[in-house]
Amino acid sequence: MLIVLNHKMNFLKEEALAYAKEMEGLFLKEDQLIICPTYTYLPFFEPIGYSLGAQDVSHYQNGAHTGNVSASQLSSLSVRYAIVGHSERRLFEKETSELIHEKMKELLDHHITPILCVGESLEEKERGETLFRVMQEIEESLQGFTKDELEQIIIAYEPVWAIGTGLVPKEEEIDRVIKRIKEQVFHTWQIEMPVLYGGSVNQNNISSLREIPSLDGFLIGSFSLDPKNVKSILK
Ligand code: 13P
Repeated sequence: MLIVLNHKMNFLKEEALAYAKEMEGLFLKEDQLIICPTYTYLPFFEPIGYSLGAQDVSHYQNGAHTGNVSASQLSSLSVRYAIVGHSERRLFEKETSELIHEKMKELLDHHITPILCVGESLEEKERGETLFRVMQEIEESLQGFTKDELEQIIIAYEPVWAIGTGLVPKEEEIDRVIKRIKEQVFHTWQIEMPVLYGGSVNQNNISSLREIPSLDGFLIGSFSLDPKNVKSILK
């Protein structure tokens, strides 16, 4: 089971340093835990016993792009995974599937594993359009990649309405969506792609969510901000 921690835009310097210190000496298998701090704190983390991820990447390679961070720069900081297409970026930064595809291409060219987030809004869920929305995001962002490239990619199913709300879909519903994602990806590209779930995962629901047969892991936001919580779920 893969556990990815998305710190989003949290912590000041001293807090991030303290968090990184708490994560020392975890001695997990390398690809069991991935910590995605804010860009500026990446160098605080020494990824031994866990892996380091970024929360985003630029679609540009390098040069005159003020404020951006490239895949090669992430790679030089030992980053091995990167979240792309998070709904907060799709919504607030107006990211499109085309842009997300370009970002994934940059990551793949630098041997960084993209974690592609997809998920429906509340309105889409209420209209019964969950699978349509999720498949559309997947197909638009993945089309054009080679089979070798596709084999590097992880999908995270994060219903937008479940992020930071305390609401979580029923386990059968998560299983249904993940199974359909896997079937569709296999049907289109003959690839078995891992799929994570994200959205209000916490100590009260993680044990039952873990039992979802099709699930390969979690993408966790606010619950991951306390190292004690992280340690408790790793036990
Ligand atoms: P929460 O766990 O805070 O709902 O956030 C989920 C998320 O967006 C992870 O990427």
